[in-house]
Amino acid sequence: MHLLPEEEQVLAGEYGETRQKMMEILVALGKVFGAARLVPVRSAQVSGASYKTIGDAGIEWLSGLEARVSVPTVLNPVGMDRISWREMGIPPDFARKQEEVIAAYSRLGVRLECTCTPYYIYQTRFGEHLAWSESSAVSFANSVIGARTNREGGPGALAAAIIGKTPEYGLHLVEERRPQVHIRVEGDGPHDDIAFYGALGFLAGKLAGNRIPFFSGIRPRRDQLKALGAAMAASGAVALYHVEGITPEARIFSYDVADLEYLPVTAGEVAALWSGIPVDAVALGCPHCSPEELSVIAGLLAGKRVKIPVYVFSARKVIEASRDAVAVIEQSGARVYADTCMVVSPAMERFGTIMVNSGKAFSYVPDMCRAAVRIGTTAECIAVATGTPGA
Ligand code: F3S
Repeated sequence: MHLLPEEEQVLAGEYGETRQKMMEILVALGKVFGAARLVPVRSAQVSGASYKTIGDAGIEWLSGLEARVSVPTVLNPVGMDRISWREMGIPPDFARKQEEVIAAYSRLGVRLECTCTPYYIYQTRFGEHLAWSESSAVSFANSVIGARTNREGGPGALAAAIIGKTPEYGLHLVEERRPQVHIRVEGDGPHDDIAFYGALGFLAGKLAGNRIPFFSGIRPRRDQLKALGAAMAASGAVALYHVEGITPEARIFSYDVADLEYLPVTAGEVAALWSGIPVDAVALGCPHCSPEELSVIAGLLAGKRVKIPVYVFSARKVIEASRDAVAVIEQSGARVYADTCMVVSPAMERFGTIMVNSGKAFSYVPDMCRAAVRIGTTAECIAVATGTPGA
């Protein structure tokens, strides 16, 4: 891999031991994946932020680093709402350790936005190179925005944040962004809810594996694209997809589609994921809710009381900008939490069955929360939570 003179100096340790270590990580990644050079990144998003996933070894590693990030960098959700952790039932020992993790990142200059939807907070543009970690954020950035990022591991994203560059391979290169499989949705179905797209993504991710799908036969809106991509990244390893007539790069590659392997998914297969099993709690906001999703949930809960715990997750800045909707949601007895999510927080582990409107949560909850899971539309989730007849 070709390095510029100042990059060689960093690698030689002339800018301190931490920057040297970080450059070693980037160079090692670049060599493994055959990168020709490093490219500057516009922002970074670092996973490995929940104490539940990084543990004491992670705190020790982070505490030994002596450098500051050189591009805007945010964290993935952590294991608790930093303000309302007691109300979430988080044990004080866990909270103390979680704050140690956060303090270690803060010392490096990482912004303490803990979210998988950094694109709601910082403007991210078509064609920008990024070093993001969380799989749904990576999928959204690549597919919906047309920015370019591989799915970075925590250390790779932090190294890119500190150096301000990442090796140019994989999805940073246009030729690596071509669709590899054509998925068409056949038959009529309830195509107008994020849960439909989450469930479709759950099935499509299993079919696509780590290949880049090109979808036809659907017209998802922005939040529905978010749900589709998040689920495919969870049930498969899809970091980029295209939707005919919708996503920004679909037109560039549409001439390739006739030659691709064709994988049909029927609306009936999507509908078969629905069940009527009784649930103990409802969790919404995987990925973190947009302002529009908070408004929809508020509209469904207005004037009602929930009969089982309902948790809604979003980025703190989005919650602060959606005060009216959040007030309506909380008047029902549901709770809106920032900084964390249903999967990385230990708070959800006390329930036997959780209902979600997310294909990603549908994929992760059984293992990560050790709970059974039911998927439904947002309206169905609220109907179940409020005991509305017919739920
Ligand atoms: Fe985000 Fe947590 Fe879901 S990180 S995508 S809310 S599992």
